Amino acid sequence: MKYTIAVIRGDGIGPEIVDGACRVLDAVAKKFGHTFEYRDALMGGAALDAAGVPLPQETVDICRAADGVLLGAVGGPKWDTAAPELRPEAGLLALRKALGLYANLRPAVVYDCLVKASPLKCKILRRGVDIMVVRELTGGIYFGERGGDDTRAYDTEAYSRGEIERIARKAFDVAMLRGRRVVSVDKANVLASSKLWRKVVREVAADYPDVTLTHMYVDNAAMQLALDPAQFDVIVTANMFGDILSDLAGAVTGSIGMLASASLSESGPGLYEPIHGSAPDLAGRDAANPCAAILSAAMLLRLSLGLTKEADAVEAAVRRVLEQGVRTADIATADTATADSAVEGETVVGCREMARRIAEEI
Ligand code: IPM
Ligand code: MG
Repeated sequence: MKYTIAVIRGDGIGPEIVDGACRVLDAVAKKFGHTFEYRDALMGGAALDAAGVPLPQETVDICRAADGVLLGAVGGPKWDTAAPELRPEAGLLALRKALGLYANLRPAVVYDCLVKASPLKCKILRRGVDIMVVRELTGGIYFGERGGDDTRAYDTEAYSRGEIERIARKAFDVAMLRGRRVVSVDKANVLASSKLWRKVVREVAADYPDVTLTHMYVDNAAMQLALDPAQFDVIVTANMFGDILSDLAGAVTGSIGMLASASLSESGPGLYEPIHGSAPDLAGRDAANPCAAILSAAMLLRLSLGLTKEADAVEAAVRRVLEQGVRTADIATADTATADSAVEGETVVGCREMARRIAEEI
């Protein structure tokens, strides 16, 4: 089959990791007899430089016409002083809104062979960590009314019943395919929007008798993620809480360079991107970890193209290459900063070589 994939390479390490992911997709195409047609599109800093806006209309059109969108990362110090609506991040938020990407799935998994990369004690991780954060992505404080001047400024958190219902449904659907446990995270002891959130999530839960629902306040959820991450299966939460908790969940796995994400709409193409940023300090040095982008491409295969075998093959290839001891610097046990790189059984490689090995495994 032939599929069209919109490719937004972005800024910083974005182009390098996306090239790695495309190399792996090419290996999938060859092995399984598909054709992936890539259509490049600009967003973020690259778009500001080329077109003066962070999200050109052409990019939205290319994405809408594609079967899925693969994104590297956007942003960098060069554009940090731009006006708020001209920051690279504004492009990403506008694209999420334009494509209606209300559901953000962020898996946080600890790979057995990477347990040492986690900042948590082995004792805490031994139970195995496999969390799916389901973050509401097109509502809440990110898109609420805001304003202000030099003396006072405000942002508003508002959620409608419909917005809560559809993200809750998505979380329960995801849970049915996993451990069938949902923790809904809110601040219902303080916020009116959280009170409605809790009520609606409870109502949706009635349609899923096989799923266990519990509620947790966001401050406690942060503590629980650090103390006992293995207790979680699916976490469903609002845009801002999800932004914060998914970084925390990612950090406990010890390898933010490994973490993929999918952003899904009701019917159009999904967008797939690593949860890490554009890491300007690593850009152009062939030092980034392409795994998050490669695993994002696997999610694209699975969720937007329906190519299950192919997605499994990519995930298995990543796992095997890690089991062979191949590491980019961010997940190496050795402290490369102090040149202590002689850890037995580990080979530290660059971004290109990591992607090449994963493609070769496929
Ligand atoms: C994320 C990022 C974005 C967000 C930024 C870049 C706007 O932190 O995808 O988690 O806050 O959603
Ligand atoms: Mg974030």
